[in-house]
Amino acid sequence: MHTTHREKPDAEAGGQPTPEGNHAAASLYDFMVVSNRLPVDRCAPEDSGCEDGWRRSPGGLVTALAPMMTKTDGAWVGWHGAPDETITPFSHGGMDLVPVQLSNDDVELYYEGFSNATLWPLYHDVIAPPEFHRTWWDSYRKVNRRFADAVVQHADHGATIWVQDYQLQLVPKMLREARPDLKIGFFNHIPFPPPEIFAQLPWRRAIIDGLLGADLVGFQRSSDAGNFMRSARRFLGASVKQQQVHVKGANGETTHIARAQAFPISIDVKQISELARKPEIIERAQQIRRDLGSPKTILLGVDRLDYTKGIRHRLKAYEELLADGKVTVEDAALIQVASPSRERVEQYRLLREEVEGTVGHINGTYDTMQNTAVRYLHHSYPVEEMVALYLAADVMLVTALRDGMNLVAKEYVTARTNNDGALVLSEFAGAADQLKQALVMNPHDIDGLKDTIMRAVDMQPAEASRRMRSMRKQILDHDVDLWSADFLAALKEKVVRDDS
Ligand code: G6P
Repeated sequence: MHTTHREKPDAEAGGQPTPEGNHAAASLYDFMVVSNRLPVDRCAPEDSGCEDGWRRSPGGLVTALAPMMTKTDGAWVGWHGAPDETITPFSHGGMDLVPVQLSNDDVELYYEGFSNATLWPLYHDVIAPPEFHRTWWDSYRKVNRRFADAVVQHADHGATIWVQDYQLQLVPKMLREARPDLKIGFFNHIPFPPPEIFAQLPWRRAIIDGLLGADLVGFQRSSDAGNFMRSARRFLGASVKQQQVHVKGANGETTHIARAQAFPISIDVKQISELARKPEIIERAQQIRRDLGSPKTILLGVDRLDYTKGIRHRLKAYEELLADGKVTVEDAALIQVASPSRERVEQYRLLREEVEGTVGHINGTYDTMQNTAVRYLHHSYPVEEMVALYLAADVMLVTALRDGMNLVAKEYVTARTNNDGALVLSEFAGAADQLKQALVMNPHDIDGLKDTIMRAVDMQPAEASRRMRSMRKQILDHDVDLWSADFLAALKEKVVRDDS
């Protein structure tokens, strides 16, 4: 994709020195991505993966968007992860970054509160109870305004702005009001709940109204787009025709047409495939197997430590398989990578205690001097180590109770360049819509999950290869570049106005 940016007249060329020693201040951009997090996060030298004060931000959103942004001339607007630290625009990893500051209060009320203790559980099937607090909502509005202002300040006339995810749902409308010249897209990386659940939100109308400020609202699954449209109809009385809403201004005139559609996100296939073929990564995978005592089967789970991921269900099923003698610690090892996430939010603290208690219980019961049942790693790892883990794993376990997409599933399949290995995949992850040859199951059904894990462990090479080939083809044909190109092409499309 080709975009341009030009120097902004009169603006001061600020910007503090960056790891690369250059500045990206005072520019006007004709393409901007806006997300709560920038692709890099402030860190301390002792943090793992920290280089020159920065490390890669957690989560699927950054995994998906970073490859596109390194290939454009656009800018990325977002928070840099350090409360109360002001940083001026800078460049990093080939991307122009425009930091938005959050105070300690903003982090507590807007980020940990409204985003991650109200919206996150509400949008994920209320797996944890959402909390509704008016102070959190006030902060959400205020911070959304700050992100919108940052865009307004840096966007060239007629620029395309692509707003990302549930933390910024009010930004599209704020942008349209301030800058009707902009083309505005929005993509929701997480599920959108059915109206019956969305109804609980005291501010449901404002959220729908905020999103309808966009020309195009993208979702992971067509069911998410359908849920959104049903909510627009039910809570705003919008008339929805063929996935389009004619959005009305204050005087009842149509200001624009907002469309909603599914665009399933993907990964940087080239990066993962190339890493998977590197001799040193293949060697590292063999080393991992040796370090575990060369078991016949390595099972792997890789998740942010989040209650949506079904880690407890996975551990329960695995513990029962050990108890039933279907797997033994000599023959099998489960590696669970749980990367730290949202650690000050109550539900995440409780989850960590529970998961770590369960792992301790399983290992205490089944470990021997030589073998460990569950190798639990509460860390984040660089992509090279992740690919080595994918190569080492005979069985990948993705047991999410609800997940927008789950890019780990797609990364695992992409790394299996020999077409071996088995993917156990929850039907509640968006990836199940595309990876139909995975062993798809319902993680709430513990017996079903146990049977599926055993099918994966015992799968014959011919069947594994047939399934993996078909899944690999799907992902190789639909990588993340195609995802962004499809979304941006749809955003550009002229919408035919049907006022009848
Ligand atoms: C998910 C969300 C992202 C979020 C990421 C990490 O992938 O869709 O918006 O950035 O999790 O969560 P965090 O709260 O650390 O940003």
